[in-house]
Order: sequence, then structure tokens, then C-alpha cells
Amino acid sequence: MYPLIRNRRLRSSEAIRHLVRETIITPSDFLVPLFVVEGKGIKEEIASMPNYYRLSLDNLAKEAKELWKMGLCSVLLFVKVPDNLKDNHGSEALNENGLMQLAIKTVKNACPDMLVMTDVALDPYSSYGHDGIVSDGQILNDESVEVLTEMSVSHAKAGADFVAPSDMMDGRILSIREALEDEGYINTGIMAYSAKYASAFYGPFRDALDSAPVTIKNIPKDKSTYQMDFSNRFEAIRETQMDIEEGADIVMVKPGLCYLDIVREIKNEVDVPVAVYQVSGEYAMVKAAAEKGWLDHDSVMMEQLIAMKRAGANIIASYFAKDAVKLMG
Ligand code: PBG
Repeated sequence: MYPLIRNRRLRSSEAIRHLVRETIITPSDFLVPLFVVEGKGIKEEIASMPNYYRLSLDNLAKEAKELWKMGLCSVLLFVKVPDNLKDNHGSEALNENGLMQLAIKTVKNACPDMLVMTDVALDPYSSYGHDGIVSDGQILNDESVEVLTEMSVSHAKAGADFVAPSDMMDGRILSIREALEDEGYINTGIMAYSAKYASAFYGPFRDALDSAPVTIKNIPKDKSTYQMDFSNRFEAIRETQMDIEEGADIVMVKPGLCYLDIVREIKNEVDVPVAVYQVSGEYAMVKAAAEKGWLDHDSVMMEQLIAMKRAGANIIASYFAKDAVKLMG
């Protein structure tokens, strides 16, 4: 008898589609990136990230409360550091009263139960815009790891629940884990940016923090001597397995949409939570196309977010978190 099987039966009404839906997204899937600036009463829109803002500490507190009310319970903090505080060694990163350290305390004060993660890398603090220390046409690995390790301890001391090293230096997870243990921060977690690709999609983020790498002789501006080559797949698995062996609690793939094959592969390979970062350029593309009326903002946004979860991401860092949760109603 033809046809015995009609797959369209399971698509014939919203109720049945709902019943058999494999992937749903909820507010608790999201990690919300936040950009913090010095000053008071500041909420500046980032030119290449429409409807996304740099916030001073007072507005950061307000934002944290708003997120919490919406069921968004985890944030990832980034700071924009004034030029006069930048140097090659990222010294300001270790300032106990630096902007990041104050931002952590501000969020914890406003929302004590909010999960606070912090970006650990030198680029916002570096006069060269690189994630590590620059010397003789090189980004120094081990010297940079020392600073990143101190920086992580400083964030833990200020109250961060997780540190998120995004620098791609070798050996940094082990170094950070050991230092956190030694200093008694045994419950501070590490979310490792394990498979972080040298991507052109980070452009708007670098505008947001004014952290784009400057031209230096013999050093590529695209960070390709430390971030991964986007042509590679096996390397992503090796990087991720190493980070887990070194003590990472959560691993991350970044960017998102172009790298969902990597998310799936890592998800199949490892047994720790996998995060994906839908980065600034991905956000900007959707906003720009929607502004032109070329794409439907909300539909495209949800399709992409669901795709990330379907690919295997347990956690999605996204600038769309609020937009998506509002849409969920
Ligand atoms: C810094 C860092 C970057 C991003 C997160 N942490 C930029 C970079 O590596 O140059 C990108 C995030 C985004 O584009 O949304 N190490």
C-alpha cells in the first residue's frame, strides 16, 4: 500500500509539531555578554552592534537586575579599558580596584545569585590589542600565561564564579587551575575557549572594546599565530581534550554558526558541558540585514539559536539573549 509512511503527519498542526519537537531553547541556556566602561550614567550604543551597549557600573547593576528578572542568570563580563591604562603586559588587568574587579562586585551586589564569568585575555588591556605579551615579532606564550594566571586569581578574589580564558595560549588552563587551587579558590570554575578560531567575525567586538590589534612588523593582525585556523577540525578536538585534561569545567567553540560541525563533533567526543559563542559579527549581520528589511530578525535569530542548541551546545553565549527571551514571552 502506498504510501505506508507519511512524515507530514507529524508536521500537520502546531500541536503535533510542538509535541515532537526535539530541541527547545529556554532562558537558562544563555550566557549574556556584557561590556563595561568607566564613568557614571553611561549607556552607549556600539555602532556596529545595534541595540547593544557599553555600560558604566551603575547601569551594569540595573542591567543585571533586569536580566535576572527575565530568567537570564549568567553573565560574561568584558571591560573597555582607557588607552592611558594600556601597556604591553596588561598590568591594569591585575589592579584589585580595576574595572573588571569592580564590575564583578557590582553584579554580585546587585544580584547575589547571578553566575558571573569573566573574560581572561590581555587584549583589552594591551597597547597592541593582542591577547598576550608582544616581543620581537612574537606573542610570548609562557610569559603571557603568567599574567593570565594572576588575572584569573584576581577575578576569583573579586568574586567571579568562573573565569573564561579566551586567549588561546598553550598551557594556560593548567596554570590557572593550579593557581586557583593554591590560592584556595577551589570552587572557581574555568570555562575554556578551547576551539577559538582566528575569525573575521570578531570585528564589532573589537570596536566595542577598542581592542583591535595594531599593525606590528611580522605579527599578523588576525591573531592567527594563536587562534585556530578555520580550515581545521581535528585540531579543535585536540585543543578541547587538552583543556579538559588541564582542568577545564566547560569547553567552548567560537564563533557559532560557521562552526556548528565542530560543536557537534566536540559534543560527541567529550563529557563536559559544551558552550558556543555566537559572536559579534554574527549578531551584526542579522541586525544589518533586518534593518534593510532583507531578513526577518526574530525568525532568523531563533533559527540560528536553535541550530546551535541542536548542534550540541549546552550553553549559548549570545548578544541576542534578551531579544530571544522577550520573544519566548
Ligand atoms: C578577547 C575576545 C574576543 C572575543 C571574545 N573575547 C576578541 C578576539 O579574540 O579578538 C570576541 C567576541 C565577539 O566577537 O563577540 N580575547
